[in-house]
Amino acid sequence: MVLRLTLVLALTIGLVGANRIPTTKPLENGVGSPALVLEPRNGKTTLKHPTIANNSISLFCGSKKNIEDSTYSEIDRVLWSKYPTPNTTNVLEAKEVTEFEATAPASNNTVSLNINKPPATAVGKYRCDLWKGDEYKATGNLMVYMRPVFIQEENMRLDVIEGSPFELNGGGYTTVEGGNLSLTCRALGNPEPIYKWEMNGKPIKNDKKFSIRNHVMNISGVSEVDRSEYKCIATNTFTKDGREQTFTSTVTFNVRIKSKLAWLWPLLVIIVTAILLAVIIIACEYRRKKHERNTRDLEPEEDD
Ligand SMILES: *[C@@H]1O[C@H](CO)[C@@H](O)[C@H](O)[C@H]1NC(C)=O
Ligand SMILES: *[C@@H]1O[C@H](CO)[C@@H](O)[C@H](O)[C@H]1NC(C)=O
Ligand SMILES: *[C@@H]1O[C@H](CO)[C@@H](O)[C@H](O)[C@H]1NC(C)=O
Ligand SMILES: *[C@@H]1O[C@H](CO)[C@@H](O)[C@H](O)[C@H]1NC(C)=O
Ligand SMILES: *[C@@H]1O[C@H](CO)[C@@H](O)[C@H](O)[C@H]1NC(C)=O
Repeated sequence: MVLRLTLVLALTIGLVGANRIPTTKPLENGVGSPALVLEPRNGKTTLKHPTIANNSISLFCGSKKNIEDSTYSEIDRVLWSKYPTPNTTNVLEAKEVTEFEATAPASNNTVSLNINKPPATAVGKYRCDLWKGDEYKATGNLMVYMRPVFIQEENMRLDVIEGSPFELNGGGYTTVEGGNLSLTCRALGNPEPIYKWEMNGKPIKNDKKFSIRNHVMNISGVSEVDRSEYKCIATNTFTKDGREQTFTSTVTFNVRIKSKLAWLWPLLVIIVTAILLAVIIIACEYRRKKHERNTRDLEPEEDD
């Protein structure tokens, strides 16, 4: 409680004035945790209700005159911030971190940011800024890596296939022959995922028909030959368990093509029915007339 209060106070002091994100040069070297890895439960999330990762993470920061020093310099104030997700390159958009539990300096003069049950959106680049009194001591950047997790946009189907949490089913798309189709598979991840597209297991090249830009693939003027299974493959590479690894998540879409003349079939059925009906009516009418004539022909005989 006291620690929390101290932190809130420290953050408040830190936020007063122009040093929300310090622009002055730090005096010392920031020392932080090695890159951490977030383990997503599966390959799907929404931005509004992000999926919760399987592991908790704790980032730490300290200030040293020299990297080789065995102890950290004294500090009494910290500001944690996070770069925007998913694009982690723009420094100026760094946002102050408030939703996670940050601790005040420990006895060894380090600070930590604990993220229990982290949402997938906690992935990205963090920054700590450390002060002692009015002296701006150090800044440190910290990385939280995560394999690609697809973002389910509104009105988009995305189902996790049982037994393979990172191979998703994007559902079926029906397009009228000659029309355009746009498929999308944006993924959250750090490093930023790289996308590849496949049609029936073969890589798709950018050409007149297929227009691919990262997570968006447009098919223009679809025809019956485009009826296929399309796969979006998102990958990223980072060091986990001491070795560089490449991680892959996929979404499969099923594209069906509706014939341009599809609307003709119901019309044809109506026309055929109408003709049949007309034929029946005419036939009935003809038989009735014939019957009337026959009865009339018989009448004189009855008079006999
Ligand atoms: C995450 O944890 C759940 C249950 O604890 C487990 O079923 C699932 O396989 C884990 N996912 C991954 C990707 O490790
Ligand atoms: C991140 O954003 C910057 C500028 O906003 C842009 O130049 C860069 O291409 C983006 N990177 C990715 C991987 O989207
Ligand atoms: C500093 O102390 C805290 C708790 O007192 C501990 O969790 C942390 O591992 C220590 N950090 C270093 C770098 O020694
Ligand atoms: C795909 O088509 C949409 C319009 O439907 C357009 O806004 C977008 O730029 C296109 N993307 C590519 C990669 O061609
Ligand atoms: C389909 O996309 C092409 C460009 O790729 C564009 O010229 C055409 O107008 C689009 N057609 C429709 C129906 O949107």
